[in-house]
Amino acid sequence: MQKPLLVAVTGGSGSGKSTIVRKVCEYSPDLRISVLQQDHYYRDLSHLKPAERDAVNFDHPDSLDMALIRTHLEALAAGHAIDRPSYDFASHTRTKEIVTMEATPIVMFDGILALFDSSIRRLFDVSVYVDVPDDVRFIRRLRRDVRERGRSVEGVIEQYLGSVKPMHDEFVAPTRRMADLVISWERWNDRSISMLANAMRELLHNPDKSGLKFS
Ligand SMILES: Nc1ncnc2c1ncn2[C@@H]1O[C@H](COP(=O)(O)OP(=O)(O)OP(=O)(O)O)[C@@H](O)[C@H]1O
Ligand SMILES: [Mg+2]
Repeated sequence: MQKPLLVAVTGGSGSGKSTIVRKVCEYSPDLRISVLQQDHYYRDLSHLKPAERDAVNFDHPDSLDMALIRTHLEALAAGHAIDRPSYDFASHTRTKEIVTMEATPIVMFDGILALFDSSIRRLFDVSVYVDVPDDVRFIRRLRRDVRERGRSVEGVIEQYLGSVKPMHDEFVAPTRRMADLVISWERWNDRSISMLANAMRELLHNPDKSGLKFS
């Protein structure tokens, strides 16, 4: 099997990463794409008391098991299957559920910190940053958390100002300049989806073109 194409889709929370990944998969039924979500890789906090777990900053890179993300992406890149962990957000612990993920020709990694760690960043063949103004991302997050997660408006605002925004500014926003492609996703744009899917198809069939030199 040809070496799988690893694609990073990153950007701030509420930018639309998961939406774009889903749409690219829907648009490209001919491509065998598997998706790995960063959210499965939060560190297990079962050794902490519940009150201590709630005090952890989940928007900080240290809350993620970066070593396991790297190991799993390296395995998929080499064409090997992985046993993906699962995470329970209510108790902040890793569950017993293990999901075996086969290596497919294309693997998309969806996460706010996909490009933060240089040893992970270098594994990707292509990286995309989904760029949306902070106010729009906040509104999307507020709407989602209140409607779908039963959160209070005050609670969402407090979390946003307390950790989401400062961590975004410090760790996520600076990775924008490291991406190969920046997608503007303030409005719905089917063309961005088809262009990304077509670029992935092109790289899959003509991998040498990724090293094309322009003069
Ligand atoms: N172009 C768009 N216009 C309006 N709403 C959008 C657009 N794209 C996505 N949304 C909506 O915005 C919300 C956030 O999108 P999504 O969950 O894809 O973001 P995300 O980047 O994966 O966020 P997170 O990092 O928190 O997982 C969802 O409710 C989604 O339906
Ligand atoms: Mg998401």
